[in-house]
Amino acid sequence: MQFSFQNPTKIEFGQDSIKSLKALLPLESKVLLVYGGGSIKRNGIYQQVMTALEDHNVMEFSGVEANPTYETLSKAVELVKAQGIDFVLAVGGGSVIDGCKYIVAASCYDGDGWDILTGAHYSDKALPLGVVLTLPATGSESNAAAVVTKAATQDKLSFYNDIVRPRFAILNPDVIKTLPERQQANGIIDAFIHVCEQYLTLEADTWVQDGYAEVLLRNLVKLAAQFEQRDNDIWRANLMWTANQALYGLVGNGVTHDWSTHMIGHEITAIYGVDHARTLTIVQPSLLRSQIEYKRGKLNQLGSQVFNLAQGDDLAERAIDALEQLYSKLGLPVRLSEAGIKDADAVDKLVAALEKHAMTAIGEHKAIDIATSRAILLQAS
Ligand code: NZQ
Ligand code: ZN
Repeated sequence: MQFSFQNPTKIEFGQDSIKSLKALLPLESKVLLVYGGGSIKRNGIYQQVMTALEDHNVMEFSGVEANPTYETLSKAVELVKAQGIDFVLAVGGGSVIDGCKYIVAASCYDGDGWDILTGAHYSDKALPLGVVLTLPATGSESNAAAVVTKAATQDKLSFYNDIVRPRFAILNPDVIKTLPERQQANGIIDAFIHVCEQYLTLEADTWVQDGYAEVLLRNLVKLAAQFEQRDNDIWRANLMWTANQALYGLVGNGVTHDWSTHMIGHEITAIYGVDHARTLTIVQPSLLRSQIEYKRGKLNQLGSQVFNLAQGDDLAERAIDALEQLYSKLGLPVRLSEAGIKDADAVDKLVAALEKHAMTAIGEHKAIDIATSRAILLQAS
């Protein structure tokens, strides 16, 4: 076990927390408030933010789409540069937050911002970023990752850089009240699979990380079980905090990760526009069945510690079945066809995209080559 850890994002958690914006944003700063398609105007969050910022100098940029595009974000970068913006405030879910991470880095770079996604440029400078979270799922509000899509070429790429980690994140669980049911279910499952990607790898006697991962997974199973009775403060607060902690950094310290479900899932979103969490539920069960011998020890642990399954030679197989049932019960697809993807060449297109993005040896053993990805996707068709 060897790691270095720091998460400097200040978290303001609670039902009254949006008010704290007033003190968190320096009065002298020139703020760009960035949001998505306008849900914040319909649910009162915009009004709460503007009230907190009545003494600040605030400009706005709206229209960041789900799975934010380079094309839209480039317009925000132009605005930041032209207006001398020096603080960006993201008010939204993972898409708006990721989009803002791109904006704060690309605004300090003279070249084409897409270089940040391809790895041609590594940012050493970014504007400060703050977040008001409206959708618990991605953990983007306090991590250093961002995923951006170039619509023109259907490339959905990610970058990771501590320099874009938000200075603060405001987590008010009441925002969940107006979140569509589909997004609430997506949020539970995205967080669940974030923990899996950091947990279902090698057995390494990392007691803290394993134990914490299992608490978070059990919470998410419980939140899913209470889905029909979810209209209460306890459910909302526990979902928001669990989803945050799933990708906050602690679970992943000093352990082997395997983000291959996410890598394959991103291609499904890029080509077919399927919601992020729904791509993961399609890929993961099939991927785990394909890689079961590498992951049997941890799958056994998941089966007994999270799903309370009886011991037995087929515990790992039953743990994967339990995952699949969890996803189906919440209404998420576990096959491409259940997400409406029925074209005969779908798997060919997805595999070609993986190859284009050099995803040719993924998984903790680099054992998932293109032929294996093809088999995983065929199994998930
Ligand atoms: O556009 P608006 O009007 O804001 O509507 C959004 C959007 O349509 C709506 N919404 C958000 N909060 C709401 C609300 N509607 C009503 N009430 C509210 N309080 O929900 C829709 C989906 O929002 P989006 O931000 O796209 O969802 P999510 O948070 O799931 O983010 C998905 C994006 O995050 C990336 C994904 O790839 C995807 O692009 N990810 C980012 C990660 C990271 N940075 O660490 C990790 C994840 O694995 C993921 O890849
Ligand atoms: Zn995710």
